[in-house]
Amino acid sequence: MLDISELTVRYGKLTALDQVDIRVAGGEAVFVVGPNGAGKSTLLKTISGLLRPASGGIGFEGSDIAGVAPEKLCQRGLALVPEGRHIFRTLTVEENLLVGMMIRRDKAAAKQDLERILQTFPILRDRFRGVAGNLSGGEQQQLAIARALLQRPRLLMIDEPSLGLAPLVIDQVYASLKDLNAAGLTLLVVEQSTARVLDLATRVYVLRSGKVVLSDSAEALATGNAMEEAYFGYAGRESA
Ligand SMILES: Nc1ncnc2c1ncn2[C@@H]1O[C@H](COP(=O)(O)OP(=O)(O)OP(=O)(O)O)[C@@H](O)[C@H]1O
Ligand SMILES: [Mg+2]
Repeated sequence: MLDISELTVRYGKLTALDQVDIRVAGGEAVFVVGPNGAGKSTLLKTISGLLRPASGGIGFEGSDIAGVAPEKLCQRGLALVPEGRHIFRTLTVEENLLVGMMIRRDKAAAKQDLERILQTFPILRDRFRGVAGNLSGGEQQQLAIARALLQRPRLLMIDEPSLGLAPLVIDQVYASLKDLNAAGLTLLVVEQSTARVLDLATRVYVLRSGKVVLSDSAEALATGNAMEEAYFGYAGRESA
């Protein structure tokens, strides 16, 4: 579904992504984990068309989308839940969700989707007429995901869904993501924390200083410390 090859992205002289290769097949839940400044947000922004790559290819369902405008990509089924959620705090939950429905031409189907999404996130139905700024962090994260789902994405990308949330709330958000993935939605999630990744991931990439330093199946990473070692870049690996 998504085929990123030798992707390089720069901010002026700084190389934020350096020859990155990442693939996501339909139905997968792929995670990209990495410390602060690794280039995770840059990756998702570039796939979404918000940044232009210096070089490399981004294939999405068979065509190269590098440099295509974000609105076009949205229509083609790419949705991004950005870092920090970016909900409209002064609007109600309902109004925030209507924004997600704006790109839909099939209004009747969009309404049905809304109904289904409110079943996945019942708290949003409870708070439907409330101002989004009054939601808790976890509820805001659910709202941001719900809004993205209303675009009926084929690939949903989420930038740090667990950021700033209490452990119990992370459990809830991850459980919803697991349900969505089980129902067939393809996910590309970036996280700074590796704590919950293996609960949901089918495959994991570790990104450090703009480079992929490890990629493996979640199954293989479940035993041993390979993920943590790659994440922290233990010097022991170099001398081994
Ligand atoms: N707009 C920008 N202009 C210049 N440099 C930037 C810009 N955005 C990010 N960078 C730099 O690019 C590198 C990658 O940043 P990015 O935000 O992609 O990292 P990240 O993995 O998402 O980090 P975090 O976990 O803190 O969100 C960092 O060195 C960062 O300082
Ligand atoms: Mg980031």
